[in-house]
Amino acid sequence: MCGIVAYVGNKNVAPLLIEGLKRLEYRGYDSAGMAVVTPQGIKLVRSVGRVSVLEAHAASDAALQGTLGIAHTRWATHGVPSEANAHPHLGQSRSGHTIAVVHNGIIENYAALKTWLTERGHQFYSQTDTEVLAKLVAEFYEGPPAARDAAAGGGVANGHGGLEQAVQAALREVTGAYAIAVVSNAEPHTLVCARKGSPLIVGIGENSYIVASDASAIIAHTTQVFTLDDYQVAKLCAGPDDTVNGTRGPWSVAFRTTTIDNVPVSREVSALEFDLQQIELGKFKHYMLKEIMEQPEAIRNCLRGRIDKREARVVLGGLNQFARDLVRAKRFILTGQGTAFHAGRIAEYLFEDLAKVPARAEYASEFRYRNPIIEDGSIVVAISQSGETADTLAALREAKERGALALGVVNAVGSTIARDTDAGVYLHVGPEIGVASTKAFVGQVTVLTLMALFIGKRKYLSDEVVRSYLAELERMPDHLERVLTQSEAIGQIVSNYVRRQNWLFLGRGYNFPVALEGALKLKEISYIHAEGMPAAEMKHGPIALIDKGMPVVFIATQGSQYEKVISNIEEVRARGGAVIAVATEGDARIRKYAEAVIEVPAVPEPLQPALTVLPLQLVAYHAAVQRGLDVDKPRNLAKSVTVE
Ligand code: M6R
Repeated sequence: MCGIVAYVGNKNVAPLLIEGLKRLEYRGYDSAGMAVVTPQGIKLVRSVGRVSVLEAHAASDAALQGTLGIAHTRWATHGVPSEANAHPHLGQSRSGHTIAVVHNGIIENYAALKTWLTERGHQFYSQTDTEVLAKLVAEFYEGPPAARDAAAGGGVANGHGGLEQAVQAALREVTGAYAIAVVSNAEPHTLVCARKGSPLIVGIGENSYIVASDASAIIAHTTQVFTLDDYQVAKLCAGPDDTVNGTRGPWSVAFRTTTIDNVPVSREVSALEFDLQQIELGKFKHYMLKEIMEQPEAIRNCLRGRIDKREARVVLGGLNQFARDLVRAKRFILTGQGTAFHAGRIAEYLFEDLAKVPARAEYASEFRYRNPIIEDGSIVVAISQSGETADTLAALREAKERGALALGVVNAVGSTIARDTDAGVYLHVGPEIGVASTKAFVGQVTVLTLMALFIGKRKYLSDEVVRSYLAELERMPDHLERVLTQSEAIGQIVSNYVRRQNWLFLGRGYNFPVALEGALKLKEISYIHAEGMPAAEMKHGPIALIDKGMPVVFIATQGSQYEKVISNIEEVRARGGAVIAVATEGDARIRKYAEAVIEVPAVPEPLQPALTVLPLQLVAYHAAVQRGLDVDKPRNLAKSVTVE
């Protein structure tokens, strides 16, 4: 939900910001903008549409020269996508200085602040909540830090005052979520950033700092990063002389981190765990396709070191210290949104089946505000690719407050949800850029399977049973590869139905949540209306929708409910529906019932979802491509939803 990138250093900032925005564009893409601090003051360029439009504007603006700047790609919350609403937003201080702000998040009390600021003479030019922040910082800004700080040997980075102080003061007045980067024309070597609730990473480069919503905009410059906790502020200085840290040198850099109450805090610098290649498209046309095709390798990485067949053991280091709690747990609550929620729904089956413990999946957004009952022995598992989803984070915090042990199943290492949980398991499937979540889902389902076996083994499951599941899991990457070889054939199948505007996805048992996921994938990137539901539920109402030729995708793999699914297929066929079946390899019978069949290798039922979802991801992908849509940037969506 919006991407921000900011830089202070010794390089020309505009091209660097554009490159960063391109990497962050998947977070929001309705408008973009940047502010560069130049010797003539702050230069602003903003445009509606994609970052490429901004790039063209920036390239034709010769005045956009400087080594300090902030930039933003927007996913609108307050105010339509327009140039006026695009970030950065500006404020004018009483001392006559200009402040520029980019922001990701929502300022909840913006209306009250706007009234107050208007009374104090500030004029507003946009409908955004962010403009309030710019004016608020300006209201508190008294000019650059006193020269005495630098003269006393402390340097600007160590001395308090100026922009840092104004940002702290402004944020003390604010309710809501924010990741911000702020500059002033009076402090040409200082970048101030802060966060609460929305993601922000600071990269420590050579002679520079680069700040961004996520690591993809940083990795080309440095692997050394630190994050801020909520209510923390970083003042980052890079300059050509002793203005920075009081020592003489051709170029100095220094930073300090504080709370918004100006209490110094220390931050741990760590190394990013992925490389540039992982976030480049390479030979693929779309990130979604790249990430679908990466799934065998992603699952190999996810499983690496976690399977001990000899001892019939699942190795999940992060959970060891809570193993007793997991075994004694009375109830698991699996919470997340969208695709992550669907993984949670599969875990209901996995946990009850393999670990013999009650488990319920909850939409984080509903759970959070339902006044939920958390009994003793409840364990909450927050599932999230990004680790930044605001609804999931809020549910996690609510559950913790009510006494639950909080675990995370998260992909983004060091993300807020990962840091806020008591323990957890990372997916290790690599960065996911495509807005439609694919490899993260299969990673989530794999990790949740491992967790269920981890608990089950300590309760009822024999070594023999655990060992056989582990052997099957080890074969999964090869199975995934086999399914993916059908991509072209799936594209052919899709071409027969792609103009139909309504689709159904049906499955039973473990494959019911896969049906939900198949429908979500199709609607979010191809704009086809699709519904997923238990196959049996169809005849309780939705069957009325079925008319001649309506595509109905059945997950009809062999298992305990195969015969029942065949009956449901008959019901659809009797009403003229066009059945597309995802079936087990070698199932000749299903071909009598279905117009099209996509095969998956035979695996035990609990492991089926990680396989059966692949054809559905490919169905959605090919449908979107055949409809000429922007697969990686579907309308109205953004990758990471950091507002509730
Ligand atoms: O980053 P998260 O896994 O927490 O994101 C949750 C949902 O926003 C996400 O899965 C969303 O539904 C995707 N667009 C689905 O493809």
